[in-house]
Amino acid sequence: MGSGASHGSSDEPKTIAVFGATGLLGGAVARALLKDPTNYRVRAITRKPNNDKARKLAEKGAVIVTANMNDMESLEKALDGAYAVFLTTHYWEERNKEKEIVRGLNAIDAAVKQNVKHIVLNGSESVRKLIGKECNNLDSKAAIEEYLKEVGVTYTIIRLPFWYENFYGIFRPHKIKHGVYAIPLPIEDAAIDMICVKDIGPCVVSILDSPKQYKNKTIGLSADRMTTVDMAHVFSKHIDKQFISPKIRTKDYEKFNFPEARDLAAMFELYQKNLAHRDIRLTKKLNPHVRTFDKWLERKLYKLEEVLAGDKDNEFEHQK
Ligand SMILES: NC(=O)c1ccc[n+]([C@@H]2O[C@H](COP(=O)([O-])OP(=O)(O)OC[C@H]3O[C@@H](n4cnc5c(N)ncnc54)[C@H](OP(=O)(O)O)[C@@H]3O)[C@@H](O)[C@H]2O)c1
Repeated sequence: MGSGASHGSSDEPKTIAVFGATGLLGGAVARALLKDPTNYRVRAITRKPNNDKARKLAEKGAVIVTANMNDMESLEKALDGAYAVFLTTHYWEERNKEKEIVRGLNAIDAAVKQNVKHIVLNGSESVRKLIGKECNNLDSKAAIEEYLKEVGVTYTIIRLPFWYENFYGIFRPHKIKHGVYAIPLPIEDAAIDMICVKDIGPCVVSILDSPKQYKNKTIGLSADRMTTVDMAHVFSKHIDKQFISPKIRTKDYEKFNFPEARDLAAMFELYQKNLAHRDIRLTKKLNPHVRTFDKWLERKLYKLEEVLAGDKDNEFEHQK
C-alpha cells in the first residue's frame, strides 16, 4: 500500500481504515481522526472514490481507497498495513440481513489476514435473542459482533442509540394538522437513549487513544435519554409549532404500511423494554463535548424547519 500505510510506531501516526467513511457514521469517525494528524492517518474506504463525499475527505487529508465489502481481494488490499479498522456495515441499501453479515465477516477476515491490531465495530444486541422478534437491521450486527469476538483480534464494540439525525428522515415529526406535529416513535411512556452521530467520532478516537483500556469491551453510547413527551417539549421550545406525543404502541407500529415497519417496531420494543444498555457517563468521558438533544436542536433549527415545511397535512395518518 502506498502513502497512508502504517502500523505506526511511537513517533509515527497510525493508519486507521474507516469503513462507511462517505456515510454519516463512518464520516463522523473519519473527520474526528483527521483532526489529530499527529497520531492518525485516515484511510477512507469507498466503492465510489470519485464522489463528492470522498473528494471532501481527501481535501481534509484522508487517503481514499476503493474497496467493496463483497470483494475479498479489494478488502485485503485496502487493509494492507492498517493499524486499526473502524467497521460499520450497512443494512438499508439492500435490506438483506444475510448479505450484511457476509460483508461484515469479509471485512473482519481481511483485517485478521492483514494483521490489523484493533477493530472498533458498530455492533448491536441481538433483538431476536432478547425479545424473540426479528429485527434484521440489528440482528445482522449482533451476528457480526459474535464472529468478531471469536477471531482473536483485539476489538472494541460500540453499540449505538437512536441518532438525533433520524428526525430529518423516517422519524421526522409528522404533521397532523396545521401547526401541529407528532413525534412518531413507538415507545409509549418509555425513555430512549439518543446521540448526535457526529459526536460518535470523538468517542471512537478516544477508544483508539487508549486501546488497552477498551480492549475487548462492549460499550453502549448515549448522550441523552428522553421520552417522546420530553422530546415534544424540546421541539416546542425551539420551533414555533405545537409538538405532541401520540404514544404509539409497537404492536400498532409493526402494522404500519412501509416495508421496514416490523423491524423498526422490534427495535423500539427492545429500547422500550430497556434491554439496550447505554452509558451516558462513559460517553461523556469518551467525548466531553457530546451534545444533549436540546443543544443539538438549538443549532440545527433551520434545517429541521425546512424538513417540516415540506410536509403535507395529515401525513401521519397516511403512514398507518
Ligand atoms: N442508531 C441509529 O439511529 C442509526 C441511524 C441510521 C443508521 N444506523 C446504522 O448505522 C450504520 C451506518 O449508517 P449511515 O447512516 O452512516 O450510512 P450511510 O450514510 O447510508 O452510508 C453507508 C456507507 O456504507 C458504505 N457501503 C455500503 N455498502 C458498501 C460495500 N458493499 N462496500 C463498501 N462500503 C459500503 C457506503 O460507501 P460508498 O457508497 O461510498 O461505497 C457508505 O459510506 C448502518 O448500519 C445503519 O443501519 C443507525
